[in-house]
Amino acid sequence: MTKIAVVPGSFDPVTLGHLDVIARAAELFDEVHVLVVHNPDKKAALFDAGDRVRLIEESLTEVGVPGTVVVGEWTAGLLVDYCRQVGSKILVKGVRSGEDVAYETPMAIMNRHLAGVETVFLLPDAARAHVSSSLIRQVSGLGGDVTPYVPQVVARALADRH
Ligand code: PNS
Repeated sequence: MTKIAVVPGSFDPVTLGHLDVIARAAELFDEVHVLVVHNPDKKAALFDAGDRVRLIEESLTEVGVPGTVVVGEWTAGLLVDYCRQVGSKILVKGVRSGEDVAYETPMAIMNRHLAGVETVFLLPDAARAHVSSSLIRQVSGLGGDVTPYVPQVVARALADRH
């Protein structure tokens, strides 16, 4: 049976930290679905969902992630509904810290209760542990250099926005 792992997130925008986790997931599972999902806790986005999907696709090409990785967008409801639709029982989340684990744990248990979907936590490389999309947006918006933390396509898209 093909083991499909779903890697969900806001990806506003995708960072090298995300790509590190996606590459690790691609080593572990037969197929990885990177899914841009609406986060009901987050209000205004910098990039619209279509741009985020495109930036992920172009970033995957730029950094050369191995394996079968597809990119999509989910607006139709619960994340686990997408998992059911594609026959996946596995969510992958990158966790940088104990705070991330604390934030992710209730969602992981809820998703297991809702649909029997398990969550696998993966650690990014330590050099990426301080990288988040919100910090990237802030640093870029204030004129700082984000090129060490994002693919070139994302750095260019950010420069066009600010
Ligand atoms: O990158 P983010 O913003 O931390 O990603 C959070 C995301 C989008 C993965 C999270 O908000 C989510 O799982 N949303 C889907 C909504 C859902 O299914 N909620 C109920 C179960 S927790």
